[in-house]
Amino acid sequence: MSADIQLRNVTRRFGATLALDTVDLDIAAGQFIALVGPSGCGKTTLLRLVADLDQPSGGSVLIGDQSPSAMRRQRKLGLVSQRPAVLPWKRAAADVEFTQQVTGREGLPARGLLRHFGLAGHEDKLPHHLSGGMLQRVNFASAIAHDPDVLLMDEPFSALDEMKREELGLWLGAELARRPKTVLFVTHHVDEAVLLADRVIVFSPAPGRILADIPVTAPRPRTAAFRTDPQFVEITDRIRGLLFGNWRHAA
Ligand SMILES: Nc1ncnc2c1ncn2[C@@H]1O[C@H](COP(=O)(O)OP(=O)(O)O)[C@@H](O)[C@H]1O
Ligand SMILES: [Mg+2]
Repeated sequence: MSADIQLRNVTRRFGATLALDTVDLDIAAGQFIALVGPSGCGKTTLLRLVADLDQPSGGSVLIGDQSPSAMRRQRKLGLVSQRPAVLPWKRAAADVEFTQQVTGREGLPARGLLRHFGLAGHEDKLPHHLSGGMLQRVNFASAIAHDPDVLLMDEPFSALDEMKREELGLWLGAELARRPKTVLFVTHHVDEAVLLADRVIVFSPAPGRILADIPVTAPRPRTAAFRTDPQFVEITDRIRGLLFGNWRHAA
């Protein structure tokens, strides 16, 4: 199951700071949207509004015709934040199982999930015996263990090394083909965005506005071979141009 997401004229102010400026965004059920943009442009703010962790100053957010809070109460949202949020007293497998117990949704088997995430042999370790990258993977497993309809991710792979990052990204793509979800994925990593997403939304520098909405039409799940596809090359180049200016032609 997955649900569509609709943002209408969404603004968010923090005192004098305008973090989001009249954002309109329609995400179809099952679509994978990557959000890229310079630091401070409002990506986390947008994600928090959809996750029901914050309220817009104006405009509306709907998920499958319901409010984010109704969706959250029904445990239909999965959230992976930038920093791991694991329970310090729970061993890895127990942490993953905990979300399943709380939500009453069996979803994916915890130990199998942890093995997928490269944590075989670490299932019964406490958080202080795991590295930052491992913790983030436990966090990730916990967020999808109850098989939510909507997966909200804020730079989920930023603590990982490049190899693990690519491996987990490709695993995520394949997993979503098995159990489709609507995904909102914030990343700084242009290649990762294009490798995984159906659409890449490029944000302007603050206040956050949508600068471009770029479809990536190649079928998902994709493999690492997509990196050499002309579509991949063209789109990553275009996004870099939007984010970093015309640096290729300036030299
Ligand atoms: N709780 C808050 N209180 C005050 N200002 C905030 C708060 N959250 C975010 N901001 C401001 O909103 C802007 C966007 O922040 P954020 O969404 O975190 O950007 P990004 O995730 O794109 O780096 C920034 O100027 C940030 O300082
Ligand atoms: Mg952020």
